[in-house]
Amino acid sequence: LRVRGASQVVQVCREGEKVLRGASMKDIAVIQGENGRGVGLVVDGNGLIADLGFDDVLDAKYSDWSFKETVLANGSSVLPGFVDAHTHPVWVGDRVNEFAMKLAGATYMDIHKSGGGINFTVQCVRSATHKELYDPLVQRLWSMMRCGTTTVEAKSGYGLETESEVKMLEVLNNARQEHPMDLSITYCGAHAVPRGLSSDEATLSIIEEQIPTISDLSSKGQIHVDNIDVFCEKGVFDLEQSRRILAAGKREGWRINFHGDELHPMGSGELAGELEAAAVSHLEEISDAGIAAMSQCGSIGVLLPTTAYMLRLRQPPARKMIEKGMAIALGSDFNPNAYCYSMPLVMHLACVNLRLSMEESLVAATINAAAALGLSDVCGSIEVGKKADLVILSAPKWENIIYQFGCHRDCIQHVIKEGNIV
Ligand code: NIG
Ligand code: FE
Repeated sequence: LRVRGASQVVQVCREGEKVLRGASMKDIAVIQGENGRGVGLVVDGNGLIADLGFDDVLDAKYSDWSFKETVLANGSSVLPGFVDAHTHPVWVGDRVNEFAMKLAGATYMDIHKSGGGINFTVQCVRSATHKELYDPLVQRLWSMMRCGTTTVEAKSGYGLETESEVKMLEVLNNARQEHPMDLSITYCGAHAVPRGLSSDEATLSIIEEQIPTISDLSSKGQIHVDNIDVFCEKGVFDLEQSRRILAAGKREGWRINFHGDELHPMGSGELAGELEAAAVSHLEEISDAGIAAMSQCGSIGVLLPTTAYMLRLRQPPARKMIEKGMAIALGSDFNPNAYCYSMPLVMHLACVNLRLSMEESLVAATINAAAALGLSDVCGSIEVGKKADLVILSAPKWENIIYQFGCHRDCIQHVIKEGNIV
């Protein structure tokens, strides 16, 4: 594939950079066309970026290559595909009614305790077949891709017992094989305490039953798991239970990536430092010591502006995190509570509500989100040797993808996944 005629190619980071922290988050790399001289890129037969730069230079250098397809990106801007660092995309059952309850003043935990929220979705998922879960998942992955997402973290966590958690992981693994979207798969059996168990009993069942079963299936090559997650929250799993579950997952070789410090300060940032977690999500209530711990161990803060917006929570202290040298990524948190899979909208909310600059938002939605998933050597920026995962905008300036909020479909001309036009 050849992409040519663009007004700018936004690489995001420089060659070899795996994550951007602190002030460097503002510092993105852009190749800018000039009067009549377009810029573009060359993709090889394996869907990897072979070269990029001015079209006249590329034309001369690759005159003996025959391209299957050429995208005329006249006057447009080219961005790396977005990486969504946090989603819950496998579920059935309608929770639109909860939106009205929240608008009427119910909190997330009020709904959860009254049998709605995660517990309601768990009931629906437990009784659904593999196909009933697979079909909507695939539709959602296409919808995400149309919004420019080319890699997504995806969690289980609506089964809460071995059989249904395995079913969710199988559904995700199936999609990973069949759908062009790259999936980073997270086992989240500790998403809530299932009805009928205490949190101690649930912790034990996760450590002694669920994790060994999943580990066994994965050693037989039947399912693949990348990360382990826990909802570390008051009334869900406390710090000590979270520590034990996450440590058990780490022993399986899974990367630690959990929900922490969302509704109450739990010491999740500090725990991330202790366990050398790859990432922690939410962090609305992170402490200063937690920020210092995460910054020191290089653990990435995955901020979810849709959730803080939907639930009218305090915003996470993003500016302070950046000041203290933490790396920040973004996720949509797509789930039945926060029904949004649009990374352009997430970046917009991050700018307005978290006070990130547009450059910082873009870094957080690309290279840093890839880093949170351990994938920043293969995607998350436009660099030679990385996957040709691209978003081509109809606008000459890339900032339009954030500025035109809620209407990004008018702005996205093409999404390209590993050299193929989606
Ligand atoms: O990240 N906080 C916990 N989990 C999800 C919500 C899941 C649900 O409500 O179904 C979240 O927001
Ligand atoms: Fe979540």
